[in-house]
Amino acid sequence: MCGIIGYVGSQAAGPILLEGLHRLEYRGYDSSGIAVLNHAGVLAIHKRAGKLADLTASIEESPDGCIGLGHTRWATHGAVTDRNAHPHTSSASDVVVVHNGIVENFRELRSRLQRSGIETVTQTDTEVIPQLISLYQQEGGDFLTALRRTMAVLHGGNAIVALTQARPDHLYVARNGHAGGVVLGFGEGEMFVASDLPALLPHTTRIRHLADGEIAAVTAEGARIWDRSGATVPLEPLQVDLDPVAAMKGQYRHFMLKEIMEQPRTLSDTIRGRARIDPPSVELADLPMDDEALRALRRVLIVGMGSSLHAAMIGRTYMERLAGIPADFDNASEFRSREPLLGPETLVVSISQSGETVDTLAAMQHVAEIWKAPQVTVCNVEGAQSTRITDGAAIYLRCGPEVGVASTKCFTASLAALYLLACRIGIARGHLDGPTAEHAIECLLATPSIVDRMLEQREAYEALAARFAEAEHMLYIARGIQYPIAMEGALKCKEISYIHAEGYPAGELKHGPIALIDRRVPVVAIALRDALYEKLVSNIQQVQARGGTVFAIGSEGDEQLAAGAAFFAPVPESDPLVAPLATAISAQLIAYYLALARGADIDQPRHLAKTVTVE
Ligand code: F6R
Repeated sequence: MCGIIGYVGSQAAGPILLEGLHRLEYRGYDSSGIAVLNHAGVLAIHKRAGKLADLTASIEESPDGCIGLGHTRWATHGAVTDRNAHPHTSSASDVVVVHNGIVENFRELRSRLQRSGIETVTQTDTEVIPQLISLYQQEGGDFLTALRRTMAVLHGGNAIVALTQARPDHLYVARNGHAGGVVLGFGEGEMFVASDLPALLPHTTRIRHLADGEIAAVTAEGARIWDRSGATVPLEPLQVDLDPVAAMKGQYRHFMLKEIMEQPRTLSDTIRGRARIDPPSVELADLPMDDEALRALRRVLIVGMGSSLHAAMIGRTYMERLAGIPADFDNASEFRSREPLLGPETLVVSISQSGETVDTLAAMQHVAEIWKAPQVTVCNVEGAQSTRITDGAAIYLRCGPEVGVASTKCFTASLAALYLLACRIGIARGHLDGPTAEHAIECLLATPSIVDRMLEQREAYEALAARFAEAEHMLYIARGIQYPIAMEGALKCKEISYIHAEGYPAGELKHGPIALIDRRVPVVAIALRDALYEKLVSNIQQVQARGGTVFAIGSEGDEQLAAGAAFFAPVPESDPLVAPLATAISAQLIAYYLALARGADIDQPRHLAKTVTVE
């Protein structure tokens, strides 16, 4: 969603803010803007609808001043216009704010402002924030008190950075709820603020995530933080181990391709040091549950959204097969809506690579408040909000920043993390004995090289995409543990190539979707030589009998399948439980090269954002 950047120090703020916004572009946005305060207390605001390049082009002279804030907007309230772009100011122009999240009660707050004689001039929910701060200041009170009063009346999840002429050396940062993360970055004689780590990493790896209810006053020398009650909170910055270079595109044309290619490494990093063969064991340092606690579990529920939900679907099978425990998955947003019945004997596993997805956080919060069930989160961002809800119980993915909007390396790493968790539970519960645990772990350890071999074939996918780039609809079919990969393949295809695609369990085909088959609708069929192979082959024949074009993802050496298919993607032999990590690569490559052939904006697909912080 929206991106936030802030700077205070001794350098010119303008270029730092623009460069920070550039690093946040991957989140998706439709407008951008910056505000810089100069030494004479004069505020310069530049904002534009459109791409960052439009903003940069509109700035004739770089603003003078060493303190400022910037924003990339993803419109939720009001059209995409220059005026609705952030930063927003109070009528008196004494307060400037950038904001991430939604002020759910903005209409009511707008009426309250009108009753005090203040007219808002934009269609945004955000504008009420600087107006309220300014009003509360006029009513008598310092800036901090006015900010605190304002945050207290906002409904919904919100993160803001504010600047005031009254305190020209201070940036104020505040967070309410889970929509919109915000992180402080500690430099030498300078401080940074951003919604996301990639914007901070070129400057510093010493960071501090702001928690729900916290307010920070930031100067060039450092920060002070208070909680909702006004009590001072220790700073305790975190040293993050992220290489800024990893956030760069390097030799690749798109972050998405770079991240697809990184998967052998990200998988080994995720598994590294956690799975051992001799004796067969899994160690998860941030899972605070001993064998006894794992044995006491009766059920596992896995929640997530989008690709993370597809990982959850596969995670269910891992729990059933490797941990020997009843398991289910749920869409995090629907989970909360239907007021589910859980109990303290259910382990809730949430998957969120960003750790900031509002639907997933809300589901986790619901579990924490209503059911007090044990929770662990699978997450790629150290110290993200999801890990705060679980009190630190996490399986970190160790993927480095995932910049491409379409999740790739975090998806496969999530599968590896769920597999590790299932083995850990299975070993504790005695479901996996020595030899079966050893076999399971060996299969997982083999995945980086299997993925490497999948990636070697990427040129074949490019050729395929060139032939079928005109398709307007596609179907993906599979069975069993591969069915979620059909869903994931279809999601990737929709997201980045804008081809309408749907994933189905192959058994469902005859119950409706088969009516869509004709030669213009390619069908991607995942048909590995596993227990469900024969059934899949029958489904493929049903498609072909109706003139359908089949792209088969099959086992290496399956000549018969290859002969009948318009495209055959061979998958090296692997255990059926880890095979989704290999077929996921085919799904990603098909989508990537189709999008490339269609000239789509792969890293920033339309209407999408990397971190989804609105419901
Ligand atoms: C799809 C994709 C999204 C995310 C979803 C959840 O390619 O990236 O569907 O998977 O928005 O995001 P996280 O994992 O950050 O909670």
